[in-house]
Amino acid sequence: MTERKQIIVGVAGGIAAYKACTLVRQLSEAGHSVRVVPTESALKFVGAATFEALSGNPVRTTVFENVDEVLHVRIGQEADLVVVAPATADLIARAASGRADDLLTATLLTARCPVLFAPAMHTEMWHHPATVDNVATLRRRGAIVLEPAAGRLTGADSGSGRLPEAEEISTFAQLLLERPDALPYDMSGVKVLVSAGGTREPIDPVRFIGNRSSGKQGYAVARVAAQRGADVTLIAGNTVGLGDPAGVEVVHIGSADQLNDAVSKHAPESHVLVMAAAVADFRPTHVATSKIKKSHEPGHASDAPAIELTRTEDVLATAVRARTDGQLPNMKAIVGFAAETGDANGDVLFHARAKLARKGCDLLVVNAVGEGRAFEVDNNDGWLLSADGNEVALEHGSKTLMASRIVDAIGAFLRLG
Ligand code: CTP
Repeated sequence: MTERKQIIVGVAGGIAAYKACTLVRQLSEAGHSVRVVPTESALKFVGAATFEALSGNPVRTTVFENVDEVLHVRIGQEADLVVVAPATADLIARAASGRADDLLTATLLTARCPVLFAPAMHTEMWHHPATVDNVATLRRRGAIVLEPAAGRLTGADSGSGRLPEAEEISTFAQLLLERPDALPYDMSGVKVLVSAGGTREPIDPVRFIGNRSSGKQGYAVARVAAQRGADVTLIAGNTVGLGDPAGVEVVHIGSADQLNDAVSKHAPESHVLVMAAAVADFRPTHVATSKIKKSHEPGHASDAPAIELTRTEDVLATAVRARTDGQLPNMKAIVGFAAETGDANGDVLFHARAKLARKGCDLLVVNAVGEGRAFEVDNNDGWLLSADGNEVALEHGSKTLMASRIVDAIGAFLRLG
């Protein structure tokens, strides 16, 4: 059970205000005390009763209610985290200019905890120089302003400006509670290519050889790097139904060959490659063009076909070789992942050191696996090994927390390199 924290959810007046209901519910269910502070216009979209019921706390919008409790100062002072979702262009402008004309903006001025804005507006508003300047001002002052998602907006429009899904906002909220300095805006101008999830190697049109990778760790790296300002492309294999992270270009692939093609295509323009995907080492040599049928004749119980396997390309090793051969002049950091159990020959770190040397990458993220660890779970721990011999233990925590440590290491490597 996580420690119970005091979270303020600010809600500005946009149609995405309805998604704030799910966010409030998720944060409450995570065990936190949530208080909703909507603007007057937010209440035109969602009623105060809904927010009161979901949070279990009273809803006020102006500084003239419950004056004796000095709410406009107390709410901000006592908060461990303020999340504004949705943050409209108007709310962002008021926050950037330090206005205090309602309870939410007064709260933003008195809060000394991390403040997370999740913008939602039409693409034109998001790209308007006024909004761009206001967002830059908030970021310069240490606030976290999420990149919005791209997709369907209100009406027939689509583009950048959608509110990230409630699940994603609450993931970042939890991250900031675990580590308040996890999302500095320090990766702008860096092009990061991440692979994540498991590959599926077809046997016939309906069957494949797959693996248990959930994709969560790679998605978390893509998500955190993008929110720290990097330009991120995610090559996504099979996952446990993860949605596309906000602000990330996602390319969906199936097999190891497709993953290799996608990485080869995007690697030349990338500065960083993070190979978190669980790539099959072998694929069926021959893929049946029609479904393989079992025999229904009596006495044919042992008609099981043998599946011949062929080695797949080692995508990570290929990228390392291409860089050595001068084909990837932009590539500054190549990060591999290793899932190890340890065996009679040596422990997890012994095998990981050997893998780092064999693969030739710059950084290796190591997870100890087996007995319910690492795969299909939300928490993780491990080590980060560098080619220069540096070894850092990654503290136990969410995969998003681990992703923030991995992005830190990439940032440090880029500054050194
Ligand atoms: N990898 C890859 N291409 C493959 C297999 C793996 O790029 N065909 C990458 C993975 O994305 C990961 C790293 O290589 O970053 C380590 O993968 P792993 O399968 O553990 O390494 P192997 O060298 O295959 O070692 P093992 O003997 O443990 O199978």
